[in-house]
Amino acid sequence: MEKILVAVAWPYASGPRHIGHACSTFIPADAFARYHRMKGDDVLMVGGTDMHGTPTTVRGDEEGVSPEVIANRYHALHAKNIEELGVRYDLYWNTADPNHQKDVQEIFSTLHRHRYIDERNMTSPYCATGNHFLPDRYVEGECPHCHFLRARGDQCENCGHLLDPFELINPKCRVHGTTPVPRETRHAFFRLSAFQDRLKTWVATRTHWRLPVLTFTKSWLDEGLQDRPITRDLDWGIEVPLHPGWDGKRIYVWFEAVMGYLTASREYWRRQGKPERWKDWWYDPTAKHFYFIGKDNIVFHTLFWPAILMGYDDKLGLPYDIPASQYMNISGEKMSAGRGKGAWLPDLLERFDPDAIRYYCIAAMPELKDSEFTWEDFARRNNNELLAVYGNFAHRALTFAAKNFDNRVPEAGFLDASDKAMIRNIEEQWKKVGHNLEFLHFQQAMREAVQLARLGNQYFDGKAPWDLIKADRQKCGTALHVALRVSRALAVIMAPMLPFSSQRLWHALGYDDAIDRQPWDAALDDLTDGQTLRVGKPLFAKIELEAATPENEGDRLDVRVAQIVDVRDHPQADKLYVMDIDLGDERRQIVAGIKANYTKDELKGRKIALLTNLQPAKLRGVESNGMLLAGEDAREVGLVLPPSEARIGEQIFGVRGAPRIAFDDFRKLRLLIDDGGKVYFLGTGGERRPLKVGDAFVHVDKEIADGSPVH
Ligand code: MF3
Ligand code: ZN
Repeated sequence: MEKILVAVAWPYASGPRHIGHACSTFIPADAFARYHRMKGDDVLMVGGTDMHGTPTTVRGDEEGVSPEVIANRYHALHAKNIEELGVRYDLYWNTADPNHQKDVQEIFSTLHRHRYIDERNMTSPYCATGNHFLPDRYVEGECPHCHFLRARGDQCENCGHLLDPFELINPKCRVHGTTPVPRETRHAFFRLSAFQDRLKTWVATRTHWRLPVLTFTKSWLDEGLQDRPITRDLDWGIEVPLHPGWDGKRIYVWFEAVMGYLTASREYWRRQGKPERWKDWWYDPTAKHFYFIGKDNIVFHTLFWPAILMGYDDKLGLPYDIPASQYMNISGEKMSAGRGKGAWLPDLLERFDPDAIRYYCIAAMPELKDSEFTWEDFARRNNNELLAVYGNFAHRALTFAAKNFDNRVPEAGFLDASDKAMIRNIEEQWKKVGHNLEFLHFQQAMREAVQLARLGNQYFDGKAPWDLIKADRQKCGTALHVALRVSRALAVIMAPMLPFSSQRLWHALGYDDAIDRQPWDAALDDLTDGQTLRVGKPLFAKIELEAATPENEGDRLDVRVAQIVDVRDHPQADKLYVMDIDLGDERRQIVAGIKANYTKDELKGRKIALLTNLQPAKLRGVESNGMLLAGEDAREVGLVLPPSEARIGEQIFGVRGAPRIAFDDFRKLRLLIDDGGKVYFLGTGGERRPLKVGDAFVHVDKEIADGSPVH
């Protein structure tokens, strides 16, 4: 029995996560943990939400609320999505917890005492307009390496290079748009350079790491490690345990978040009432630690975190493997939670079986090179692989047995060569899947598992039970028995990767217990003759993408139900209102020209249809981020209203998270009023798609002539 620590990167509390995050962190970590649990290993899987730092404060600034509101909101959302995805942590925690903060301060103080932390003056970018320093994401500019235009002060998210804010070409304050000036400030520094030799020696022993991880890490070592500032001029984060004079500063988010792997291990066992047990994972040299991260997190895990561990307590376990994933791109750009793009987990989970999402994550996982997310690929893999190969195989064996063998597992009689070959294939594929999971080759593990279903289909076709049943009922029974045995094996073999459908199949095969309680080698066991089957619906549903193909022009829009929270006069323009809008998971400010048609009281609290992905613009000097939809004819302007029971945030039209669209491009698309005040989208091919919430149409609020435009 091995001790395995499954350490999952802590998602920022700055917005919903997208499928790329699931592919690089949650899903491989969970599949790995589930596999080892089935093997009987002692697994501890920890992580949580990364609550601090500028990702959260920037979002708070944008919405005009405190970082705490943002952090709590997204922590709750991440926890919910993780649960819905079936990702089973032992502890899903968060870095705002006082126990984390306390442990972090203790580690910080110890490193300070060991003289790995010292204090230095440095220059930082400062915004003279807003009188504030510009830590990390507060400064944006052109990346000196890849020339991406919106690189941030700490890192370019396009090429992954860590940056010094002064390296940015044409830097700007993210809040005020002004060019920052250098200004002196005092910060704590971590003496990373002191670990250069130890890290180099250690990395040289990590020959089993994925090549991109090793290459990137070695290039850092070759350049020579630099000491790094580990505090920031911010007031959101963990307080610096050096007093006095550190009140306005906080510990750098990365420096404390990585410590979460250790603090969460302690917390888990503290909650179990066994406060010493975490040591079994952290002080036992045979325990293995696996870190599941995206490639932009590599050096934080391969160099910084090991250095912190070495400097804090050199008996603590260092990472065994760090299977970082590459990016999953959406239309060529990295999917980023900070930009309005992507396939968001909350939306995917609303629309699809979690196993369809898990399947895609594993089958398309960017293990060694970037991959491309497209909706077609998502649907194709589900329909042509998961459903057509695995789902069909399981379903046809079950339904045939149900219909022709009294809903029971037929008795296996004499096994001929092809029956024996099929049973050998179970063992072969089981071994291959196990080896691949062991070595973190998730894509290949899934391929081998699906291959077993494919072999099952070939076996089934070869036996042609629909004919055999007439010629030799007993032989047919044997074939069905073997086919069901393959299904049984598949339920076990797929369980780490696709736990929901495995459980459904397990149940259909007549078992009442939980699939994830089965030992891994239960895949090789046979079924009991005569066991009663419970055939239900097919294992998987087909994914039809009517509403989500990119050829579809309407999919360039993202229209959702929103609520008007507040209405004010525009300071500079008589015809305009400035409004605060609630979208459920975020707040926006918009400017709208409906002052002549609606009073403030008529608007406040109203549910509206908001085009969320219009390029933000300044209207007479006030920022407008989105557009409320209204119909207009020669006489009147009428709001487009969702049905009163619609939930805030619900999709009305188009694709959630569709890329931002410029106003001029929006004007080329046509939204029109139908008779009866319904609203529809008119495609260039003449096709009409109504705007709806669920089955209910949205309507304009006043009598507006048919065929009038909506904008
Ligand atoms: N919040 C970081 C991100 O989303 C990951 C932090 S992982 C940990 O990129 F190491 F800090 F824990
Ligand atoms: Zn500023």
